[in-house]
Amino acid sequence: MRDLGNFLSSAWDNYLDTTPQAMQIVRRFGEQGEKIINDHIALRTLSHASCGIETLSAQFEAMGLTRALASKDEYHFSEKKLRATYFHHPTDSSIPKIFVSELLFKQLPGPVQETCEFMLSKLPRSIQVMDFTQNWRPWDIHKAQYHRLAKFSEYAAWVYALGFRVNHFTVSVNHLKKATSVELVNKWIKEWGFSLNEEGGAIKGTPLQGLVQSSTLADRMTLHFKEGQETVPTCYFEFAQRFELGGRLYQGFIPSSADKIFESTKR
Ligand code: NI
Repeated sequence: MRDLGNFLSSAWDNYLDTTPQAMQIVRRFGEQGEKIINDHIALRTLSHASCGIETLSAQFEAMGLTRALASKDEYHFSEKKLRATYFHHPTDSSIPKIFVSELLFKQLPGPVQETCEFMLSKLPRSIQVMDFTQNWRPWDIHKAQYHRLAKFSEYAAWVYALGFRVNHFTVSVNHLKKATSVELVNKWIKEWGFSLNEEGGAIKGTPLQGLVQSSTLADRMTLHFKEGQETVPTCYFEFAQRFELGGRLYQGFIPSSADKIFESTKR
């Protein structure tokens, strides 16, 4: 539990550091008397023994979290070539769920496979969950490779440029007192001058599916490529409201909604 607490607080601090809009949005919510409880956080990685879901799974389970889905029920994003699962605390619902996706890069074209193999060859050891709080990227980045990757997979380009870090945190709308729907949250976010991801409509999911979500467009950050600086999309803030399905608050995710939310880091 102490390890889990360390991980979550380091991840949150790192995320606020690298996502200035999230820092500002949290402050704005605070001015309205709202306290932020996170519904989930999301990590992106590559499908490989050194850094994939299975490696992280063992570590999250050692921290007291439960893997929510049997492998047959895992989420698959066939177009983006992603697979995902999530971890949750068995008793404490105020602890954010951890959603982990991995890129099935072997199903993508040769150039993507080559660059992913290059990234993996630079890992000096297996990944530790704390690496996601340190922006771990033990490889140099090149502009040509970044842009070539992005043509095939925005997700691959994101991991290549930014390394292992938290992709987003998600405000639990169920825990807000005044902004009691995603619609109201979106209204505030726009009034505060931030942009929402409108891909597939600003609101993803329906109460009947158990989960309604929206997200901002990713912040941008200037990175040092070998050839010089370039500004790229980084991380975004998400908002989620859960509804009862069959008498229980739904705790899962909706792949078709998540698919559109992945577009929040589109260049
Ligand atoms: Ni999310």
